[in-house]
Amino acid sequence: MNSTPSRISFHDFKPDTGSFCEDVLNGLAQPQKELPPKYFYDPRGCELFEAICELPEYYLTRTETAMMQRLAPEMARCLGEGCVLVEYGSGNSRKTRILLEALRPPVYMPIDIAGDQLRATAAELGQVFPRLEVVAVCADYTRSLSFPEWKSGDVRRTVVYFPGSTIGNLTQAEALAFLRNTVSLVGDGGAMLVGVDLKKDRKVLDAAYDDARGVTAEFNLNLLRRINRELGADFDPARFRHRAFYSEEWSRIEMHLVSVGAQRVSVAGRRFDFRDGETIHTENSCKYSVAEFRELARQAGFRSAQTWTDADHLFSVHYLECLRVSP
Ligand code: AVJ
Repeated sequence: MNSTPSRISFHDFKPDTGSFCEDVLNGLAQPQKELPPKYFYDPRGCELFEAICELPEYYLTRTETAMMQRLAPEMARCLGEGCVLVEYGSGNSRKTRILLEALRPPVYMPIDIAGDQLRATAAELGQVFPRLEVVAVCADYTRSLSFPEWKSGDVRRTVVYFPGSTIGNLTQAEALAFLRNTVSLVGDGGAMLVGVDLKKDRKVLDAAYDDARGVTAEFNLNLLRRINRELGADFDPARFRHRAFYSEEWSRIEMHLVSVGAQRVSVAGRRFDFRDGETIHTENSCKYSVAEFRELARQAGFRSAQTWTDADHLFSVHYLECLRVSP
């Protein structure tokens, strides 16, 4: 067997400070103040998210990782040979390694907004999989993006891997639009493998997003620290409290930062007033039943070819196919 040296490229389409500022000012100007959750992931936020994944209450990562360990060979058979495996929000790519082991695709394209972590991960994967072409893309995949070229010739299909239930950050309407986009991106014969957190007892959900050690609270409040540092703001994190709860009406966890007392904050020279108890909505984490998510995928133009769940029915992974339309 001839082994080609590791091939790694890095493409930077990182969102600039300008769009961060614009998003923050625009979000804080809404009647219900809000901030996009993608901005959680500065280096400290990445660290805190990794700590969340280890928490006893946060069952998602542990459950999905165990599913990948058990099911990766079966998933690899579904995906087949010659994939470009595109991953959205690759983070530390830990779950992906398990899939890469089983699938051995010619090309892996991790796409993430957190540039430093992405660079480190791409280098690591290059070491572990010397024959894998890694095309790392630092970008905000929620905005439209085009894929950079890859060198490997033996590619038959594009498969998007979207683990972690990150799709839950989108509202159902946004998720539908996002899935439709993915359908046109991967094209006929393409596919998607997506991890989706399941509906369950609200006590389990509430605890997962409001842990006893306060790591999730710290993760939420870190967003204010980032805004202070990068946009010249004067949020006092001691005057905001973390709140997370499951909304039955919207089938989602909502995370908020609650103002302790009335206060005025200035961000990039603009002033924002907070009433006592007023909140900034910082994240949604939508939960689906297997049937609901399948229906959403179907509406987007996918065929739900396979769904796996764990024994406790906490988490699901869906294999969705984009059918070849015969002429
Ligand atoms: C990375 C979006 C999947 O919604 O569970 C964890 C983020 N927020 N704890 C989730 C998160 C609070 C996480 N996702």
